[in-house]
Amino acid sequence: MHMLINSHKVVLLLLCLEGVSKKFGAVTAVEDVSLQLESGEIFGFLGPNGAGKTTTVRMSVGLLRPDTGRVLVGEYDMTHQPRQAKAQLGYVPDRSMLYPKMTGREHLQFLSLAYQLPAPHGPRIDRWLDIMSLSDAADSRIETYSHGMARRLTWISALIHDPPLLFLDEPTEGLDPASARTAKDLLVHLRERGRSVFLCTHIMELAQSLCDRVGIIADGRLLAVGSPEGLGQMSARGSESLEDVFLELTDSQPPEISSVVDALSGGGEDE
Ligand SMILES: Nc1ncnc2c1ncn2[C@@H]1O[C@H](COP(=O)(O)OP(=O)(O)O)[C@@H](O)[C@H]1O
Ligand SMILES: [Mg+2]
Repeated sequence: MHMLINSHKVVLLLLCLEGVSKKFGAVTAVEDVSLQLESGEIFGFLGPNGAGKTTTVRMSVGLLRPDTGRVLVGEYDMTHQPRQAKAQLGYVPDRSMLYPKMTGREHLQFLSLAYQLPAPHGPRIDRWLDIMSLSDAADSRIETYSHGMARRLTWISALIHDPPLLFLDEPTEGLDPASARTAKDLLVHLRERGRSVFLCTHIMELAQSLCDRVGIIADGRLLAVGSPEGLGQMSARGSESLEDVFLELTDSQPPEISSVVDALSGGGEDE
């Protein structure tokens, strides 16, 4: 395990991205991103659409190979020791990747075998189905699930092996308010148990209320990393709001409401 020794404590590094870059043809999706995640922290990864969040996560979980740089999960290099590295992590992708013909329970039994979890698997699976309110649908085929139910099954799939490091890509998308609350409570619980979470989100409130640190990415470049409070103080408007800093840094200021109203009411054009 990588360690950092600062003046107060020994810190375990669960994830190190070292100068990772990725191009798709002429498009530079991620450029020279370096990041570290410690154990027991929730890291929020914020950026506008197309900023490079999903590409960064796909490189971190070993689904895409970086063009340059390297990914370390714990002590394992994702390129050279992918099996050991992947065993350390759970992943909720932006789109669910499930087998439609399996039932939810079969899917979780299959994963329990794949992860070589200690038997019996039944009680652990039942507990998770209960936490995520899927008990009633456990024996129905996944193809009959609503979007929200598939998302909840994806959450269980990412957590059933109790990984030290969890990647979540827009994870509350498609969840109803009760499930979103359960998910949020779960993340706090995981942090208390020393697990780490890498959370891509568009939702500023979630980042502000849940994350210990956030990184802001735009056009593939990491622009700032810090606590939500610390970053909030960078706001040129003096508002101490993470949302304002986000909009300022990513150059995505929304139009003034008066011009929106103008546009909706005909924009002052001749009738
Ligand atoms: N498989 C791919 N092929 C081509 N371009 C891609 C691919 N994946 C992502 N991109 C491009 O890379 C950039 C970053 O995308 P992405 O990482 O999905 O951003 P985000 O998750 O922040 O919305 C975008 O310009 C996107 O169009
Ligand atoms: Mg994305």
